[in-house]
Amino acid sequence: MLIPIFNFLLIIQITRSQLQNSDKYASSFEIDLDEYNNLWQKNISNENETLFIIKNVLSSYCYVRINLKQNDPSLILMADYGQFPNDSLIQSYKQGEKIDRISSLENRKNRFLKLQSELQDIYISVRVNNTDNQFQISISGSSEEECNNDCSNNGVCEANGCSCYNSFIGNDCHQIAEQLLLGTQKQFYFNTSSSFTFFYINLKPLMEHTLRIDLTQYSNDTHSEQVDNSNNCLEVWIYKSKALVQQLNDYTQQYFHTFLIEQGTQIITTKIPSNLNVQQQILWFAIAKDTETFDSVQLSIAVSQDDAVIYEYDQKDDNDETNKLLYIILPTTLIPITILLIIIYYLRKKKNQGIDNPNVVPKKQPEIENEPEKCAICFEGLNTKNKAVITIECNHLFHNSCIHQWGVQQVGLKSCPTCRRPFKPEELQ
Ligand SMILES: *[C@@H]1O[C@H](CO)[C@@H](O)[C@H](O)[C@H]1NC(C)=O
Ligand SMILES: *[C@@H]1O[C@H](CO)[C@@H](O)[C@H](O)[C@H]1NC(C)=O
Ligand SMILES: *[C@@H]1O[C@H](CO)[C@@H](O)[C@H](O)[C@H]1NC(C)=O
Ligand SMILES: *[C@@H]1O[C@H](CO)[C@@H](O)[C@H](O)[C@H]1NC(C)=O
Ligand SMILES: *[C@@H]1O[C@H](CO)[C@@H](O)[C@H](O)[C@H]1NC(C)=O
Ligand SMILES: *[C@@H]1O[C@H](CO)[C@@H](O)[C@H](O)[C@H]1NC(C)=O
Repeated sequence: MLIPIFNFLLIIQITRSQLQNSDKYASSFEIDLDEYNNLWQKNISNENETLFIIKNVLSSYCYVRINLKQNDPSLILMADYGQFPNDSLIQSYKQGEKIDRISSLENRKNRFLKLQSELQDIYISVRVNNTDNQFQISISGSSEEECNNDCSNNGVCEANGCSCYNSFIGNDCHQIAEQLLLGTQKQFYFNTSSSFTFFYINLKPLMEHTLRIDLTQYSNDTHSEQVDNSNNCLEVWIYKSKALVQQLNDYTQQYFHTFLIEQGTQIITTKIPSNLNVQQQILWFAIAKDTETFDSVQLSIAVSQDDAVIYEYDQKDDNDETNKLLYIILPTTLIPITILLIIIYYLRKKKNQGIDNPNVVPKKQPEIENEPEKCAICFEGLNTKNKAVITIECNHLFHNSCIHQWGVQQVGLKSCPTCRRPFKPEELQ
């Protein structure tokens, strides 16, 4: 007798909470995708939050494309299966499937999601800030692999995204870049008007070895003479994700490492792990030139394998000025949304100030954050398949099992193994 009543209550509760949830959307559309009508398109304007519910997707995938009339980095496109997209799950939403962070970060006019059809309704929400803006949304079903912007015609679409042709980079292969080959040295001129120049290195032959990049700056007129410290106008941006952000400032250190080429030289070394997946086998970087420096400068970039470098994982050794250990790998799915919101806030602020100059170059050499690709407790990779990863209050990442064990072993107040800030093990899921 009790059970049916309980069921009944539960159903009412679910129905009510779903209704409450859909109330917060300014408008919603229910879309039926079937064999005959496999594409749905609409132009939306003046709505700040719109919900799309898709039913009956008969093909393997459901693709969502948004084309904006004007740039709007604060547009958030989210999706979930069988439930409303949930803001508190944003950081665990998968890039390219449940959320498109990359296009927002790059401030591109398009957004793209590739959803799996799992015989469940798909809920898609689009939140905009600038309601004067307009976007066209296209939702289609297909059993073929499709990619963001069709890889800009500069790559091949594969199951896990675009595989760009030589000299193109970015998640949709939109950015042209120069390839630097192992064992070669090249000279480049950075003139007054250009601000960002993109490069890439194929890491595949370097797996389990050490990559070394030597950057040497010369003044333009005297070709052989290395410059002194009066001209610190070049900066190296090493990207940790596929987002080729270029107009942002310090707050996005989660997405790249920056190194100023000080006193004419910089040597960057990094150990390349053996378990890089295909998408991580390319190292992307850009040389940013401070456009306030009016001189044209010449830079030589040499790429080599150097296994003589000895690595210290201890943080205290990071103050070595020339040999810098990079952490290339950072799963984009773990990046907290707070960073995204901060970016949005600053982009907006900048836009409101009327500064549309994409050449923000931090003046100070940033400290290298010891963003771990490894769990600081067991020193095993954080991206191993069979171990759950958890972020504690101070935003450091560990294997779930390791941090729990750590909590048990510590007497009294528990503190983060990396930064010593206290945390409460009982509050971890
Ligand atoms: C956004 O939508 C909500 C719900 O319809 C409405 O109350 C609010 O005023 C809207 N905000 C803007 C800025 O349009
Ligand atoms: C929707 O927008 C696109 C691109 O902005 C435009 O080409 C198209 O004509 C619009 N459709 C309607 C029905 O307004
Ligand atoms: C969103 O997710 C959080 C964490 O899983 C959960 O506690 C909350 O109830 C969810 N909210 C909705 C509206 O489903
Ligand atoms: C939304 O736009 C308003 C006005 O332009 C701005 O003050 C606010 O910071 C924006 N919010 C976000 C999250 O970008
Ligand atoms: C500087 O670079 C830009 C873009 O690469 C190019 O169009 C321009 O001609 C260059 N200027 C000089 C003086 O070399
Ligand atoms: C810098 O040197 C290069 C190569 O000699 C030359 O092409 C370029 O015009 C020079 N730029 C300036 C501003 O002198």
